[in-house]
Amino acid sequence: MQTSYNPIIEVDDDGLAIPEIGPWGIEKYNLVGRYANIFTTTMRDKWHSLVYIDLFSSAGYAKIEKTNKIIKSSSMIAMSLPTPFTKYICCDENIELINALQTRSKRDFPHLQAKFIHGNCNEKISEIINEIPQYTAGKGVLSFCFVDPFALEINFNTLRQLGRLKMDFLILIATGMAAKRNELNYTKTTNSTIERFLDNPNWRSEYHGSIDTSDTSFTQFLTKKLKNGFQSLGYSQIEDFHPVRYRLNGKSVILYHLAFFSKNKQGNKFWNIVKNYGNEQMTLF
Ligand SMILES: C[S@@+](CC[C@H](N)C(=O)[O-])C[C@H]1O[C@@H](n2cnc3c(N)ncnc32)[C@H](O)[C@@H]1O
Repeated sequence: MQTSYNPIIEVDDDGLAIPEIGPWGIEKYNLVGRYANIFTTTMRDKWHSLVYIDLFSSAGYAKIEKTNKIIKSSSMIAMSLPTPFTKYICCDENIELINALQTRSKRDFPHLQAKFIHGNCNEKISEIINEIPQYTAGKGVLSFCFVDPFALEINFNTLRQLGRLKMDFLILIATGMAAKRNELNYTKTTNSTIERFLDNPNWRSEYHGSIDTSDTSFTQFLTKKLKNGFQSLGYSQIEDFHPVRYRLNGKSVILYHLAFFSKNKQGNKFWNIVKNYGNEQMTLF
């Protein structure tokens, strides 16, 4: 099994759009890249098509803030794999970022089959699903979907539609410090982000604690509901969400969690290998 692939790939400024990220983003690149690598190397011969779906894809390059380092971000990491996916479907609501990703992909990976969708992934979900090759007898399609929003702007209904297909998910849950800036909005009864995240209009009557994404009880409420949601889609063996920590003012704080879902035992086994490897190193620093 190939676990040696290093997803942290430094690149030069190419003059196209490059958003800035905090250094804590590196662990997510490590994990998504390493899982994608195990996924394609082990599944390539077993399935007719392997599809990578990036619902919040951004531009393919990211600059690490306060440094001059530019590295490939999720979609370009997935395109750089030694064993690529058969098809890539990338979506971003920012036209400049999705156009930059498309330009980079066509320049560096003209041989790959890729579709770039501009818009809100929750609204574009039918278009995204239509791009996944059809399953026919003897022609299996297995997908890996990376969900990487800034906050909690992924609707469970979007995940439900994808989860009906054969698909593994890696979802960044913006709990902990990463989501602190959003918490005030969520308390407003007019704010429907959590309702859409859980697909549950009654969540305010089911949760009575502090609506604060860095609060453990609120995080536990959200993660438990999300797990229940995935269980209802047939994802029975659900791993604990992986906390990504960062040292801030001398203290180790949880910045976000990564939730992994697979209907397949082997998928869960691979995620455990990847997650433990990710704990051991931060490649650039
Ligand atoms: C955290 S960044 C994603 C980063 C990217 N996966 C990477 O590897 O760096 C979130 C991205 O999602 C986009 N975005 C925000 N809301 C969106 C939505 N509802 N649908 C699609 N894209 C969205 C933003 O423009 C931004 O590029």
